[in-house]
Amino acid sequence: MRLAGKTALITGAARGIGFEFARAYIAEGATVALADVNAAAVSLAAQKLGPKAHPIVMDVTDQTSIDAGFAETVRRMGQLDILINNAALFSAAPIVEITRADHDRLFAVNVAGTLFAMQAAARHMIPRGAGTIINMASQAGRRGEGLVAVYCATKAAVISLTQSAGLDLIRHGINVNAIAPGVVDGEHWDGVDAFFAKYEGKAPGQKKREVGAAVPFGRMGTAQDLTGMAIFLATPEAKYIVAQCFGVDGGNWMA
Ligand SMILES: NC(=O)c1ccc[n+]([C@@H]2O[C@H](COP(=O)([O-])OP(=O)(O)OC[C@H]3O[C@@H](n4cnc5c(N)ncnc54)[C@H](O)[C@@H]3O)[C@@H](O)[C@H]2O)c1
Repeated sequence: MRLAGKTALITGAARGIGFEFARAYIAEGATVALADVNAAAVSLAAQKLGPKAHPIVMDVTDQTSIDAGFAETVRRMGQLDILINNAALFSAAPIVEITRADHDRLFAVNVAGTLFAMQAAARHMIPRGAGTIINMASQAGRRGEGLVAVYCATKAAVISLTQSAGLDLIRHGINVNAIAPGVVDGEHWDGVDAFFAKYEGKAPGQKKREVGAAVPFGRMGTAQDLTGMAIFLATPEAKYIVAQCFGVDGGNWMA
């Protein structure tokens, strides 16, 4: 029960890694607001996790929705101790096929969504002089990838925002850090696999098998592989860790 009595808001928690983080946080004693743009999915997700899970319909690209979602979270849970910025979109295309609309859509969710959710959380945390913010970066933010320019750029921006916000907010007792997963199996990677099937002429499932075999650990990650770091960063043991980005990727990438 390392998070007993703590409250957390996790964006993009209707499925995948965010949902698993919510489950792990609740198992450690926390109460969690599952915030997601998909109203039906987030309601079902919260039902699965029981009374310590609160579904919040929130679109991180919409400031009114962010403000309302944080206000509702604090109203329901009394305070906000932890934010995990986890909502994100992925896309892939060769440079000459990238559209401005796709670029804008990914930056709106992955970068502006992260920044303005951090801002909303900080406004609640600063008066209390304490808080934890965890941003989901990616190994994709550590280097470019030929077909993944926009997503990689958004995740590099998440690492940069983590550094700047970490340096600004630590004087208020708020620790901001990031987690950089490698390749994590789930619905997200089903979509990634489909992009590579299209652009590299691979059979469905082939890219997944290839990236899994290339991980030094010997397989793709699971959402459960990431929960230990997400819990640790929210405990007092992590209070001297500021503005860092941790790879949890089976040895896939050296930072
Ligand atoms: N899966 C991987 O291999 C992998 C690798 C590295 C980093 N990551 C990062 O981890 C995080 C979680 O990944 P995942 O695999 O669980 O993704 P996912 O696609 O399974 O889940 C993303 C969730 O975000 C929600 N969402 C999308 N747009 C939103 C918006 N505007 N407002 C609120 N919610 C929104 C979706 O509805 C969905 O529930 C993401 O930040 C992702 O970039 C994932």
